[in-house]
Amino acid sequence: MNEPILVAEGIEKGFQSGTQWLQVLRGVNLVLEPGTITGVFGPSGSGKSTLLHILGTLQRPDAGTLRILGQEVFRLSDRERSRFRNRHLGFVFQFHHLLHEFSALENVMLPLMLAGVPDARRQAEDWLRDLDLLDRAHESPLKLSGGERQRVAVARALANRPALVLADEPTGNLDRRNAEQLLQIFRRLNQEHGTTFFIVSHNPRLRDLCHRVYLLEDGLLKPG
Ligand SMILES: Nc1ncnc2c1ncn2[C@@H]1O[C@H](COP(=O)(O)OP(=O)(O)OP(=O)(O)O)[C@@H](O)[C@H]1O
Ligand SMILES: [Mg+2]
Repeated sequence: MNEPILVAEGIEKGFQSGTQWLQVLRGVNLVLEPGTITGVFGPSGSGKSTLLHILGTLQRPDAGTLRILGQEVFRLSDRERSRFRNRHLGFVFQFHHLLHEFSALENVMLPLMLAGVPDARRQAEDWLRDLDLLDRAHESPLKLSGGERQRVAVARALANRPALVLADEPTGNLDRRNAEQLLQIFRRLNQEHGTTFFIVSHNPRLRDLCHRVYLLEDGLLKPG
């Protein structure tokens, strides 16, 4: 058996909200097997983004352990954890967070250059070609359509061939046609590269893409 990509045990997280304590996650357990697409669904405010930020090592849980590729990530120093994140994780958010002062190509090159990849430009071009964006490579993201921007964001997230891609409402700003296209891309990248995906959304259309589906309810994951 292959080792799981990610094992989360007893993840708890709460926030102080005015005078009240809001307990968002109440002991979440989750295993992500390599090469799978896992979806977590739930209404607005149920804690999907909070969970994604914790699994993506961006936010520290109040309790629980998180192992990714066998590494207990919250035991690492902040610096080691950033390096681990850059090396092994990719993110796709609802708002793409592309850098406007750089071209689409440069946005995809950036993580490759940070990782010291010698032929960053060629690899970034390969990704843009693969996502049907090569003719837009030298435009600023400001000049791209929403669907094109999100595809650039996907190219950037995948460029370093991360073991795990975490996507928060990836189709949230896309029309139906672009949303469908993005899901096809996720499916293909999963099949061709064996990339493991963790997706949170309130859009039930994403369910068909997923091998495993959970519902986040009352701070716990339930089979969906
Ligand atoms: N930093 C924070 N401080 C205080 N409260 C927070 C913080 N982050 C999240 N929350 C609260 O925790 C709850 C869960 O938020 P979260 O963003 O995880 O929900 P969500 O399921 O992603 O919602 P949506 O579908 O609208 O994106 C919400 O009530 C939110 O207001
Ligand atoms: Mg959210």
